[in-house]
Amino acid sequence: MKILVLNGPNLNLLGTREPEIYGYETLADIEAEMNACASQLGPDIQIDFRQTNSEAELITWIGDTRGKYDGIIINPAALTHTSLGVADALKAVADAVPAVEVHLSNTHRREEIRHKSLTASACIGQLMGFQGFGYILALRALVCELSE
Ligand code: DQA
Repeated sequence: MKILVLNGPNLNLLGTREPEIYGYETLADIEAEMNACASQLGPDIQIDFRQTNSEAELITWIGDTRGKYDGIIINPAALTHTSLGVADALKAVADAVPAVEVHLSNTHRREEIRHKSLTASACIGQLMGFQGFGYILALRALVCELSE
């Protein structure tokens, strides 16, 4: 089972970026925890973990998943609220590569502009508000879905 974990703009700054909102874990910490969780869940679960600040790159990566990955875990970051292109890319592959959306913060408790997700309707589910632990919850949920 191959799972692509995608992180959007500014998530490379985790650890020092507004830690009162996003926590002190770095993206490398989250990647290590996901890999540890994946090996507990099963020997055949592989994680490919990426981050980009480019909307175009994110769209290209999503569009390229068909036939290569079984599922996507995505934190589109600010593109969640703005990018029809990312939403369309997720919808374009959703029949073959289901996605779970993750947010470190509970965006509904923040500024109104963050309440709307354009990408959530392209995903099978969404997890938010548990900082880095949300990625682990998303992994467990996606592996369950894919194992059914
Ligand atoms: C975020 C929430 C977004 O509103 C914000 O732009 C981010 C991170 C989160 O993980 O809480 O960059 O996706």
